[in-house]
Amino acid sequence: MTYKAITLVKRPETELTDDLLKVIDFSKPTPTDGEMLIKLSHLSLDPAMRGWMSADEKSYIPPVKLGDVMRASGIGEVVESKNENFPIGTRVMGLMGLTEYALSDGKGLNKIPKELPADAILSVIALPGITAYHGVFEVLKPEKGQTLIVTAAAGSVGSLVGQMAKNLGLTVIGVAGSEEKCQWLTEELGFDYALNYKDSNFEEQLSNAAPNGIDLFFENTGGVAQGPIFNAMNPHGRIAVCGLIAEYNKTEASPGPSWIGIIKKRLTIQGFTMPDHFHRINEYGQALGEMLEKGELKYRTHVLEGLESAPKGLNLLFNGENKGKLIIAL
Ligand SMILES: NC(=O)c1ccc[n+]([C@@H]2O[C@H](COP(=O)([O-])OP(=O)(O)OC[C@H]3O[C@@H](n4cnc5c(N)ncnc54)[C@H](OP(=O)(O)O)[C@@H]3O)[C@@H](O)[C@H]2O)c1
Repeated sequence: MTYKAITLVKRPETELTDDLLKVIDFSKPTPTDGEMLIKLSHLSLDPAMRGWMSADEKSYIPPVKLGDVMRASGIGEVVESKNENFPIGTRVMGLMGLTEYALSDGKGLNKIPKELPADAILSVIALPGITAYHGVFEVLKPEKGQTLIVTAAAGSVGSLVGQMAKNLGLTVIGVAGSEEKCQWLTEELGFDYALNYKDSNFEEQLSNAAPNGIDLFFENTGGVAQGPIFNAMNPHGRIAVCGLIAEYNKTEASPGPSWIGIIKKRLTIQGFTMPDHFHRINEYGQALGEMLEKGELKYRTHVLEGLESAPKGLNLLFNGENKGKLIIAL
């Protein structure tokens, strides 16, 4: 029996093109002692995959080797097992790649309850939720009454960040790239303001939404919104640098705001990546599960069908056409 997987055959220079990833047929492997075979049911497409395709050896995680199955996280079920910790029927989540089947010894995989829907796991309990949770509670450390702004606010991480801050009693401003997304933020998620960074009067809209300045900035994008937001920061403000998606397809970094503002306003700016905090996944997952159960977090998913949808699907994250967590159903 054969199955399909997607390998990385070429590294991107700028935008993601059709020739970088290739669908290949593999023969189904048989687990040896300590191994198990997992049938994937759902895959997650994430902006970080763009970085994993590049040759950068100095990033927080090594690049995917040319010819290897493209790294991606997903959910699956054990269908054959020679590992007593993972009997047949166990549901697992982890970095198993863009593939229909994966062979594993269990390292790096998390067991997940069967009753939780895959979209809730991938949209909230998995990377988007733990990233939002860590950035909000461990980096920004919000206090009631403060004003928080988040970019890519209608995306999977950003939408959770804003809701967590609203639930803590902050004034929340979301920045997104379309009117539809802005409307979703204010009408469905309860953000106080949603600003379209593509509007020519973005700066004016920002000063109207935050007449007393910004205390906390959850940065997901870089790009045109970054400078005006940086200039609106209050003294002793904090910036969590989670992502800079506007930069990922560029060959040269854009100039950022002048560092003089960091001194004058005594700002704290902290970058973070979740692999450093994976040891806290159970703790964060528990907290996120409770928030979901209480109805404190809403999410939406953008579901593509079939493994072959991955190469083109990834681009939706970069042109902003994804509406919510981008998932592939296999
Ligand atoms: N540090 C970590 O460990 C970690 C973990 C997870 C994610 N992240 C980062 O968090 C950010 C959000 O990730 P996500 O998974 O939640 O994706 P997402 O927000 O669901 O999707 C990406 C969104 O980015 C926006 N975007 C794309 N190009 C842009 C540009 N040039 N300028 C401004 N906005 C742009 C688009 O929304 P619009 O329509 O609003 O433009 C797009 O929908 C990414 O930068 C990602 O790399 C970091």
